[in-house]
Amino acid sequence: MKKTISKILVIDDEESFRETIRLCLEDKSFNIITASSGEEGISLFEKERPDIVITDLKMPKMNGLDVLTHIKSLDKNVPIIMLTAFDDVPYTIEAMKIGAYDFVSKPIKVDALKSLIARALSNRASENGRDIDITNVALDHSYETGLIGKTAVMRELIKQIGPISTNRTNILIEGENGTGKEVLAHLIHSSGITKNQPFIGINCTALSSSLLESELFGHDKGSFTGAIKTKRGKFELAGEGTLFLDEISEMPLEMQVKMLRVLQEKEFERVGGEESIPFKARVIAATNQNLFRLVTEKKFRRDLYYRLKVVHLRVPPLRKRKEDIPALVVHLLGKINRELNKNVIKIPYETMELLKENYWDGNVRELENTLRRAAVLAKGESIEKENVSLPNYIDDEPIESNMTTLAEAQRKYIEFVLNQVNWNKHKACEILAITKPTLLKKIKEYNLHPANHN
Ligand SMILES: Nc1ncnc2c1ncn2[C@@H]1O[C@H](COP(=O)(O)OP(=O)(O)OP(=O)(O)O)[C@@H](O)[C@H]1O
Ligand SMILES: [Mg+2]
Repeated sequence: MKKTISKILVIDDEESFRETIRLCLEDKSFNIITASSGEEGISLFEKERPDIVITDLKMPKMNGLDVLTHIKSLDKNVPIIMLTAFDDVPYTIEAMKIGAYDFVSKPIKVDALKSLIARALSNRASENGRDIDITNVALDHSYETGLIGKTAVMRELIKQIGPISTNRTNILIEGENGTGKEVLAHLIHSSGITKNQPFIGINCTALSSSLLESELFGHDKGSFTGAIKTKRGKFELAGEGTLFLDEISEMPLEMQVKMLRVLQEKEFERVGGEESIPFKARVIAATNQNLFRLVTEKKFRRDLYYRLKVVHLRVPPLRKRKEDIPALVVHLLGKINRELNKNVIKIPYETMELLKENYWDGNVRELENTLRRAAVLAKGESIEKENVSLPNYIDDEPIESNMTTLAEAQRKYIEFVLNQVNWNKHKACEILAITKPTLLKKIKEYNLHPANHN
């Protein structure tokens, strides 16, 4: 294994701060060098070529923005983390535009800084053929709901969140399975004016029109047999927050008409109710389909489509942003370690190469599931290549017989996964990154049964 020691340059005019950072960070994997001014920092950068730079934003004479611009002109790939105070927002935005990796506000949270550093370094390490050590990430929960994405396509997407979170215009999010649509919806919700309001999600799959109606609109006491109490629906529960309509393409056509009316009139009635209730929530709809195509095929209402896509966001598939893979691996593995109470902290270069090469049909969810399986299988604290099973699931048969139809391969794989999880369908859906109804359909279609019932 190649050494994983990383050199960190810290630029800050306050000595106590430089020393605090040194105390917190210096260990067997980090080597800290410090500078007390922008000028000194730049000359030290040229001499030492550190792997990462942490610079204060506000400094006398040369400030952090100048330092950032200058260092970027020397090496555009080195990650630069800005240290900011609470009132530095305009500069922070400027810094991100110039190409800062991220920023950390003072007083700093050490765990958060460490895990930010680990993510920032992951890409460099894998480019330079080095192993990655995430010892420091295990403690940080601050990114649990965060959206990792430093590639240009993701930056463009994330940039839009600020402005749209200051109002309640409707948003349509499109993206393949597992790309992070729900994470994005949560982030929009919690970034702006809706952040202290409810976030109410509903999955439009597998709900018949009438069920969905009562779920959404609620019902008044006695409106149908069994309605013994007045029940508030999701429209009401969402209040002035966010109503998240997941898998919107699956909403039955009759329901689409009703949804449209609510969006147009900004009010609704409970099932069997008289009273009009104002509808104030923001709607975020998500789909893994090309909704416009469904409109042209008359499977989705055009008028509702336009109501929903006031803002249209597309989350790119993981294979279009492969440079984000190292940082995602670091982040996800940190999360998985906490969840499984494991301590898998080393990602050898070869393993990362393998992960970076894969196609990731199921996007970030598939990456997460692959890492979870690998973490379970890992013997020590390192994820070896052998622990990573990518879906060449028929490889214990002779090569020729591997040449099957796609349907046959799918049947075998679904059966394989179901058997692995003892037919726990919830888990199987997670691993396969498909919905429960889709799984049930496949089980029926392929006539699958638990092994011991055959
Ligand atoms: N950019 C990201 N940064 C960190 N974690 C991510 C990111 N994108 C996705 N994830 C993680 O991947 C998993 C899948 O994400 P999510 O549920 O948001 O995907 P989705 O697009 O809604 O998928 P589906 O279409 O299957 O519903 C989640 O565990 C989420 O935390
Ligand atoms: Mg989703």
